[in-house]
Amino acid sequence: MSLHLLHQFPRLELLGAPTPLEHLPRLSDYLGRDIFIKRDDVTPVALGGNKLRKLEFLAADALRQGADVLLTAGAIQSNHVRQTAAVAAKLGLKCVALLENPIATTAPNYLHNGNRLLLDLMDAEVIMVEALHNPLAQLEEQATRLEAQGFRPYIVPVGGSNALGALGYVECAQEIAHQSEGVVDFAAVVVASGSAGTHAGLAVGLEQLLPESELVGVTVSRKVADQLPVVERIRQQLAEKLELQARAPVTLWDDYFAPRYGEPNEEGMEAVKLLARLEGIMLDPVYTGKAMAGLIDGISQQRFRREGPLLFIHTGGAPALFAYHPSV
Ligand SMILES: Cc1ncc(COP(=O)(O)O)c(C=O)c1O
Repeated sequence: MSLHLLHQFPRLELLGAPTPLEHLPRLSDYLGRDIFIKRDDVTPVALGGNKLRKLEFLAADALRQGADVLLTAGAIQSNHVRQTAAVAAKLGLKCVALLENPIATTAPNYLHNGNRLLLDLMDAEVIMVEALHNPLAQLEEQATRLEAQGFRPYIVPVGGSNALGALGYVECAQEIAHQSEGVVDFAAVVVASGSAGTHAGLAVGLEQLLPESELVGVTVSRKVADQLPVVERIRQQLAEKLELQARAPVTLWDDYFAPRYGEPNEEGMEAVKLLARLEGIMLDPVYTGKAMAGLIDGISQQRFRREGPLLFIHTGGAPALFAYHPSV
């Protein structure tokens, strides 16, 4: 099996080194099953997270096209927008972000603290919109406006999730394969599935490198019927780019994100507290808390296909803890 085409795509070296893959002894004792964690929450730019891997490829493409603005969109508390703004700052580019308030809250911490505070520190230009009902069209409209002002904007899709960005998670699958080789055989890998570039990239990479490990995407915004085509579109475009077949079944669990995207739930917040208390690791209220709630429930409901160690992909998001406190 081969991912040899991966290294033909231009890429900026932003990550520096593989992120740690760690055993969590106290959580493992508590759950009665070996749990490992891939620390993509500690990627080295602006408080970390999963978007840096995607931006290695997307920002390289932007520079190749001569862009001077990274233009993107997300929720007010978007981790993706924060990391895009950071990469723009690092490269000396302008960042323009369209932001929505997906839970219609007026809580001051949500509106001003957490990720939103960091956008101001990094001098991103924020444009508030009523809703991101058609983000690509809304981004194109802004691109036209910026071009009229003499800028050369590059559109980074919501979540950095297209086939180019998802290459970053093929790379992550490669790291996981190297780090676990001869050490641990994962029964399953669990990841939050949102705009789906992370999930799709891991799906393509792990199918090649660790085909016996089941990949479970825990949805954070959609039921399976709506999320599956999102994952599948990126996965197939990515497989095509790499001249590979992607045929493994896509597993999605959609029982853990209620009441809706961006609104914490009790199980998710319990998972946040559990990881903080047992391991000193900060999950987040919107993505990784809910995904970890899925992992925990998956163990107790025997939802995993086989026995054995589990790997949780920590995709970041802890800056949002400050935005959701005391509660939205
Ligand atoms: C902390 C965190 N985890 C997971 C995700 C989901 O990743 P993706 O959008 O690639 O599905 C995001 C996306 O914004 C995120 O910020």
